[in-house]
Formats: sequence, C-alpha cells, structure tokens
Amino acid sequence: MKFFVDTAEIKDIRDLYETGLLDGVTTNPSLVAKSGRNFKEVIKEICSIVPGPVSAEVAATDYEGMIAEGRTLAKIADNVVVKVPLTIDGLRATKTFSKEGIKINVTLCFSPNQALLAAKVGATYISPFIGRLDDINLDGMQLIRDIRQIYDNYAFTTEILAASIRSANHVTEAALAGADVATIPPAVIYKLADHPLTKSGLEQFVKDWKATGQSIL
Ligand code: G3P
Repeated sequence: MKFFVDTAEIKDIRDLYETGLLDGVTTNPSLVAKSGRNFKEVIKEICSIVPGPVSAEVAATDYEGMIAEGRTLAKIADNVVVKVPLTIDGLRATKTFSKEGIKINVTLCFSPNQALLAAKVGATYISPFIGRLDDINLDGMQLIRDIRQIYDNYAFTTEILAASIRSANHVTEAALAGADVATIPPAVIYKLADHPLTKSGLEQFVKDWKATGQSIL
C-alpha cells in the first residue's frame, strides 16, 4: 500500500519524506488555506521535495475553468496530479485530461457509483472519503470494499486512494479492504509505528545493555 501525506505543511512533508515512508502528497483548498502559503508556490516546493505524485486541486467548478486551471497546475512540475471534484463537469474534465496524459485525482467520492464513473473516464486515482462518511453514521470502509470489488470486476486500473483518514485503525482497515493508497495526516502516520510493547521492550533492552558496560563501536 502506498502512503501519501495529506497536508500542505512543508516541514511535515520534509520530515516524513526523510523517513522513507512517503510515496506522495495530497493537498486540498482547506489544507492550503491552513498553511497560509501561496498555492502555486507551495505546490512547486512540495514537488521539489517529494518525487512521487503531488495532488493539487482546481478551484473552478465549471468544465472550462477546471481545464484552464488544471493545465496551469500540471505545468508546475512533472509529478503534479490535478485534483477535480466528482461532478459531471469534473468527470468531463477528467476525460479531457486523461487524453492529454495529465494525471487526475477525482475527489469528494462518497458512493460506489461515483467511483465507477471516475474509472470510466480514466481517473488515475479515486478519493473516497472514509472519515466524512463515518461522521454522518455511514460505513466509510464499506465504500472502499465496494469500490475494490467493482474495479476488480472490470479490471479498472484507477487506483483507490483512501482519503479522510482519521486514525491508525482506518489505515489498517483500508489496507485490508485493498485500497491502493492511503492519504494520511502526518500525526496518524507517526502513530502507526507506536505499540506499548515495543516501547516497554525497548526500555528494558536499553537498561539491560547499559548493565553490560559494553559498547558496539
Ligand atoms: O484531502 C481530502 C481528505 O483527506 C480530507 O480529510 O479529515 O478533512 O475529511 P478530512
């Protein structure tokens, strides 16, 4: 499973890239607003740190606007993935971009039918939002399982990018459900390494090693 980080914070991206765990980055207008940075500048900087796919979302909601903005964003760097909303205009833009060889992440997906449409028009990634479905008492993870089955039934190559991930359990469940990618907030990525038995076991090893009085170097 590939890991993308869901943030526009440069320091977090740099630190995580150095761990070797990061395959890509996703941003959205809310995350860019939170960073306080100029959108195109921050995308350019992220692309210079992470060689993998970096999602940059269009602001327009009409087809012509999405095409103009998406082409502009795609020129920022070779690893830019243009993110468009799952609307009829967004799907039409996806078809156009896929013919032009521009990679597309179709976002704000909340149903299996929406995911089916995105695959039909050649989306590179589909982003089902797990946490936001859970927020309204629906089963976000069932959506990942349904999309996996539909895509496998028809051998669609669109990658399932599990988004709106809020916890370490979400990551485990998305991996079990067969998501190709998870885009995860930085704090949740670090939490994946935590286990109380690892912590206490290491403390014991450090103590016992000290007692030997030895040094490896
Ligand atoms: O980038 C899209 C998605 O991951 C947003 O997550 O927590 O705002 O629902 P959230």
